[in-house]
Amino acid sequence: MKKHVNGTELFVQDQGQGAPVILLHGFPLDHRMWQSQIEALSANYRVLAPDFRGMGQSDLPVTPMSLTQYAQDILALMDELRIEKATLGGFSMGGYVAFALLRLAPERFSALILANTRPEPDGQEGRKNRMNMAVSLYDKGAAAARNAMLPKLVTEATVQEQPQLIDSLKVIMDSMPAEGLVHASIAMAFRADSVGLLPTISVPTLVIAGEQDAIAPPDVMKSMADQIPGANFHVIPSASHLTPMEKPEAFNDLVLAFLKEASLKSMDYRSPS
Ligand code: MLT
Repeated sequence: MKKHVNGTELFVQDQGQGAPVILLHGFPLDHRMWQSQIEALSANYRVLAPDFRGMGQSDLPVTPMSLTQYAQDILALMDELRIEKATLGGFSMGGYVAFALLRLAPERFSALILANTRPEPDGQEGRKNRMNMAVSLYDKGAAAARNAMLPKLVTEATVQEQPQLIDSLKVIMDSMPAEGLVHASIAMAFRADSVGLLPTISVPTLVIAGEQDAIAPPDVMKSMADQIPGANFHVIPSASHLTPMEKPEAFNDLVLAFLKEASLKSMDYRSPS
């Protein structure tokens, strides 16, 4: 369904009932990357998987975007859906938005899942690559992002063994509005440094890495997890960057066990005296 928030139309898949879990997608993807998680979690939770402004079925931005603006859209969506507090999950770019959300409104989140993401901002070379990507997107359309990203998302073994997964990924990436991806590239290029935020995170946190992820390598993610008080860190074997789609069973098992534990931690066990 679409919701009118912050003067724009945002798409969100809203499925299941129970404690809300918000899942934020990566680049150049949309809520469809969470299909398997939506199916697995919605039996016990209310899963909300939005499309960021300019991506998937959400409207294009009319002014420049920042990670903070994407985060403000998510907060406005929570208000519109009357969700006071939720578990927040972010994959890669979704993780950058999760950090922005924790800066803006930490009180709105009760637990955190960070998958294949990193807290450092881009360096000069990274920013230059994003600007080149923006130009290629104007020249070649969404195929520019697909061609650059696809080889980095899954392992070579997955390319050979799961052709249907590669086909679905191409369908998602080719349907993306190129201009929305330009906005996202520029927003990511100038994202804030979130390293200083890590020790202030005070909710149960799950950090998931892919063993062969070159975008957010396991050692970078381990160091991120080490700086978040009490965070659980897991590496999914034989997986590259896109762990939720490449290894959905392993990913879902980790998330379901974490959500169960996080809800137990937040309960008050004091018996009445
Ligand atoms: C993503 O998967 O969202 C991107 O790899 C993030 C990035 O390019 O930094």
